[in-house]
Amino acid sequence: MTSAVVFFVLAVSVGTLALDNGLMRTPPMGWLAWERFRCDIDCDHDPKNCISEKLFMDMADRLAEDGWRELGYEYVNIDDCWSSMERDANGRLQPDPKRFPSGIPHLAQYVHDRGLKLGIYGDLGTHTCGGYPGTTLDKVATDAQTFADWGIDMLKLDGCYSNATEQEQGYPLMSKALNATGRPIGYSCSWPAYQGGLPPKVNYTLLGEICNLWRNYGDIQDSWSSVLSIADWFFDNQDILQPAAGPGRWNDPDMLIIGDFGLSVDQSRSQMALWAIMAAPLFMSNDLRSLDSRSRAVLQNKGVIAINQDPLGVQGRRLIKEQSGVEVFWRPLSSDASALVFFSRREDMPFRYQTSLKKLNYTAGVYQIYDIYQEKALSPIKDVSDFVVSINPSGVVMWYVYPAKKMHRDAMLYGPSLHRHGNRFAPPTHL
Ligand code: GLA
Repeated sequence: MTSAVVFFVLAVSVGTLALDNGLMRTPPMGWLAWERFRCDIDCDHDPKNCISEKLFMDMADRLAEDGWRELGYEYVNIDDCWSSMERDANGRLQPDPKRFPSGIPHLAQYVHDRGLKLGIYGDLGTHTCGGYPGTTLDKVATDAQTFADWGIDMLKLDGCYSNATEQEQGYPLMSKALNATGRPIGYSCSWPAYQGGLPPKVNYTLLGEICNLWRNYGDIQDSWSSVLSIADWFFDNQDILQPAAGPGRWNDPDMLIIGDFGLSVDQSRSQMALWAIMAAPLFMSNDLRSLDSRSRAVLQNKGVIAINQDPLGVQGRRLIKEQSGVEVFWRPLSSDASALVFFSRREDMPFRYQTSLKKLNYTAGVYQIYDIYQEKALSPIKDVSDFVVSINPSGVVMWYVYPAKKMHRDAMLYGPSLHRHGNRFAPPTHL
């Protein structure tokens, strides 16, 4: 065989094995239109909020100018209702001409010019959930190529109006089709959400090979009860879900609704903390043009982002469910660090929860503690020593924990920057 043939054979076989885009080694971050802006297509009466190129340009401006991009929020993602009701003469999807008059390549350029990435939405089936043209099996390759030609960086492929057999064929097929375009396109699969999210109907090994992220469960709505029911489902099923995640493959409990109408400040902190423990994608669905400062502070908290983005890429777990309504969550992090979240489901008053690191399975030693939302270091704690945290109703206390001794030794050996995480976050005590 000539080397060209060998190369071709290799390329084809690699392409058919798995999604091979090297993307999303940490959970993707950005903004997604759906929860906040839904299928508002009434640009005549609601020009500011309707699904149009203007909305995505506005959000790209905000992400680029208000400090989001530097924190990792890089995707600007279109959801349903962007397209025309008809495919074009060549059978390709096309945007609604009134709402996207400049076309998608122009929007992609606008987003790329600001150092951001553009995501789009499709649906494996006859129609999208909103009733727009879907991607039937015969259209998978065409649509993948169209998205690549447009300069798209991520695809959310929904699953309305297809059956289990079509999904079993279509999701892997789209993975291959995206690879075949040669353009790195992050691939978000809604497949498991349509199959109940659990084995035997859902094969998480396969999903990890063909998708970068996947929706496991129902849609988030703008309420605390919605956040709670999603978090409960994910942690109730953690034995199945937790091992499925890793660099390049993430469970997706759906968008952050912080900055909308349904959450208090404490509940916003809780959603952010629990999503960080879950190594969840962080897609905000809010109006970045009018975000209040307290929501902004939660979404831009460097500590919680660093925990979410930890390079080890191991999803965390719920350790304890107390009778009192307190739950404790833990996530192992790189450099022998870890994150702890103390969460209260109570509805009365701040609850004083007493425990020790030893009771939370920590090995013997002294630990340094950085309180993420107080943004300050606490006194070091011995594993055996009891401590008390005061947790607000439907709120959290979140800690970044690392061994004191090891830190001192490594700091002497390697210098003080060891515990910097992607240069984004270093608790002050490390400096
Ligand atoms: C489904 C998805 C949502 C959203 C809508 C759009 O419900 O789960 O995230 O994309 O469709 O119609």
